[in-house]
Amino acid sequence: MRIIVGITGGIAAYKAPELVRLLKKAGHEVRCAATDHALQFVTRPTLETVSGHPLYCDLFASGGTEHISLKDWGELLVVAPATANIIGKVASGIADDALSTLLLAFSGKPVVMAPAMNSDMWAHPAVQRNIQTLEGWGIRMVGPETGELACGTSGTGRMSEPEDIAEAICNFEFRISNSEKENGDAASSSEFKVQNPKLAGRKWIVTAGPTYERIDSVRFIGNYSSGKMGFALAEALAEAGAEVELVAGPTALQASHPRIHLTRVESAREMYAAATELFPQCNGAILSAAVADYRPGVCADHKLKKQGDEGMTLTLVQNPDILATLGSMKQPGQTLVGFALETDNELANAEGKLQRKNLDYIVLNSLRDQGAGFGVDTNKVTILSRGGSRRDCPLMSKREVAREIVATVTQ
Ligand code: CTP
Repeated sequence: MRIIVGITGGIAAYKAPELVRLLKKAGHEVRCAATDHALQFVTRPTLETVSGHPLYCDLFASGGTEHISLKDWGELLVVAPATANIIGKVASGIADDALSTLLLAFSGKPVVMAPAMNSDMWAHPAVQRNIQTLEGWGIRMVGPETGELACGTSGTGRMSEPEDIAEAICNFEFRISNSEKENGDAASSSEFKVQNPKLAGRKWIVTAGPTYERIDSVRFIGNYSSGKMGFALAEALAEAGAEVELVAGPTALQASHPRIHLTRVESAREMYAAATELFPQCNGAILSAAVADYRPGVCADHKLKKQGDEGMTLTLVQNPDILATLGSMKQPGQTLVGFALETDNELANAEGKLQRKNLDYIVLNSLRDQGAGFGVDTNKVTILSRGGSRRDCPLMSKREVAREIVATVTQ
């Protein structure tokens, strides 16, 4: 790939030449763009020597159009380190120097950022809001890490090591699809044009959200699932090139990616009907919905009235198990992924479900972990495979967890 390494003014800029070296060693062609402040930490001759190309840092060099030619040249732009300042500028659409102008011109192409700053700055709501904005546009964040910081304190804000940034770039499997290259329109759309070759043109089902099981015309049995994990999975699959059939129980979430086709359902039986009909045409399925295991045996078509002072007994009957059914329908070449939300004997229970339901992978959420589970924006999961492998992921945003799951189950 042709990669532009953008460098901004943080102490971690001294690691940028190493990132350039690693990317070149991995076979990429690299050019550098830097802010004036970056050059307080790393020199122009160093960057020009390691990249083998002139440095871009003067907006008005070459008649002031260098940002456009560099944008046309580059296939991926990685900003390392990315200060709070550059993150804020991109989130606000500010282009007042060479690198910020290039970043805006790079719209529609893959951008990776490795944030680096003091932990209090990282935690500031403005920075967190800006990160969310950038992630929402498809910009990938690598790090920051937690550890010792240049200012003498420790906390979250350390730039990821150059090896990890280089590896993340390779793992993201950024590819601009051939048709986009042929049409030359890679920059004309705001869609994040990256493809995982194992997903491009493939169809996957995702189930998401809770199910509601009607008691009468105004009441139901439900659960606290927000659907965020399932919607994040659908987005991650679609971003990586898959066509996604998202079957979602009641949730206010909206799917924004054009490759996601959303079917809204209410009950487990409706979700079962949609998923079993779609599965035979799909290459894989990730079932993350929190499906009600039981429903009222009878649903009254009117509002049930209180019966004097007596209590009320609801008779529940079992719902069909969508995941187990897809497991029994699964054909060679199809990948089936389930979730397990466990409170005790987590690993043993998850492994039992993996075997029993004929899954290829199971994603274990433990409700014991803080920040994991229903309603929150983060999750902490362990991904177990049928082959016996185990990947323990740290606490991450559901968006990042989704990408990890997609990368793992499509290896
Ligand atoms: N699932 C499903 N259909 C159901 C129940 C669950 O597709 N009727 C799926 C969920 O989407 C999830 C997985 O099965 O991917 C695990 O759900 P969970 O409730 O943890 O497991 P159960 O099989 O219901 O087992 P148990 O109640 O014993 O924990």
